[in-house]
Amino acid sequence: MNIVNYSKEYSKETAKICRQSLTCDIMPDYLFKEKTILDPDYRNDLTLIAREGNEIIGFIQGVIRTRQDGKYGYVKLLCVEKDFRRNKTAQRLYKEIEQKFIAEGVKVIRVGESYPNYLTPGVDPFYTEAVCFFERNGFVKFNDTSNLVSDLTHQSFDTQDDEKKLQKENFFVKRAEPNDRDRIIEWLGEVFPGWISEVEEAFKNNPVSLFIAGTAGKLLAFSAYETNNKGTGWFGPMGTDAEARGKGIGAVLLKKCLNALKEEGFVKAIIPWVGPIPFYMYNANAKVNRIFWRYEKKLS
Ligand SMILES: CC(C)(COP(=O)(O)OP(=O)(O)OC[C@H]1O[C@@H](n2cnc3c(N)ncnc32)[C@H](O)[C@@H]1OP(=O)(O)O)[C@@H](O)C(=O)NCCC(=O)NCCS
Repeated sequence: MNIVNYSKEYSKETAKICRQSLTCDIMPDYLFKEKTILDPDYRNDLTLIAREGNEIIGFIQGVIRTRQDGKYGYVKLLCVEKDFRRNKTAQRLYKEIEQKFIAEGVKVIRVGESYPNYLTPGVDPFYTEAVCFFERNGFVKFNDTSNLVSDLTHQSFDTQDDEKKLQKENFFVKRAEPNDRDRIIEWLGEVFPGWISEVEEAFKNNPVSLFIAGTAGKLLAFSAYETNNKGTGWFGPMGTDAEARGKGIGAVLLKKCLNALKEEGFVKAIIPWVGPIPFYMYNANAKVNRIFWRYEKKLS
């Protein structure tokens, strides 16, 4: 078995191995491209394939993101072809990127959750081999989270009355337009800097897949959709400034996004990495659909 850096010529075959191995997920070619070369921090020296002869038998993608408290390494994708498992292929792929993480001063490695571009917010324990693999490699479970699903088919997300009430209190609600971009990004920098990249993705969609709310002089809340895992009905992120919470603004913005997804032909919306489950259950009848265990390994 030999390990080489990933390059575009391997994309079709590697996406196919991901599809066959990641059986709880979907991985069409366009999504594989979004996860790999379209990631803003994509590096082909952290994206490796294992080959047996000319056949690709394993794949790992690592990314390094610089967060406020330092560099984090992420195992973003990992899979080994079924017939070649338990032969230390994943181990060798992982160790190569771990060495690179260490050499570059990464302090913590996590699995999945490499926002703004990630497939899953942790390890789905239905991938039990992966649970064993990461625990064997020194990872510790530190939290869990879930993705919810809202069935869009039998729900109306009419917000007219709620919007009228908000208008009377001098709040506006609207879909963002391209020329709103700069002031939105500036405002996010002050209140929700972690979500800037995902919101920038919303501006690449046509129409802009972002709704905003505020008063004449001030932005107060936003919600977005189709900013990650595009084509899957992905909702989020959303945020309401602390001073504007409890007024129903978030609920209206959520429904505006879900209605937009519905109008675009989606039959369900995925509400990932939640957060306040009751808020989504109440406003969108969203139910827990998948559970993720969050793993990390501290390097020191
Ligand atoms: C998880 C996965 C990548 C492991 O690949 P692999 O090449 O078989 O793993 P390795 O042979 O390198 O395993 C290294 C260690 O991990 C643990 N491990 C891996 N698979 C295991 C299994 N089926 N049962 C128990 N332990 C396992 C073992 O401790 C193993 O060491 P050992 O063989 O000396 O006991 C592979 O099972 C896979 O592709 N699964 C489906 C996709 C997936 O879950 N991806 C990760 C999503 S987060």
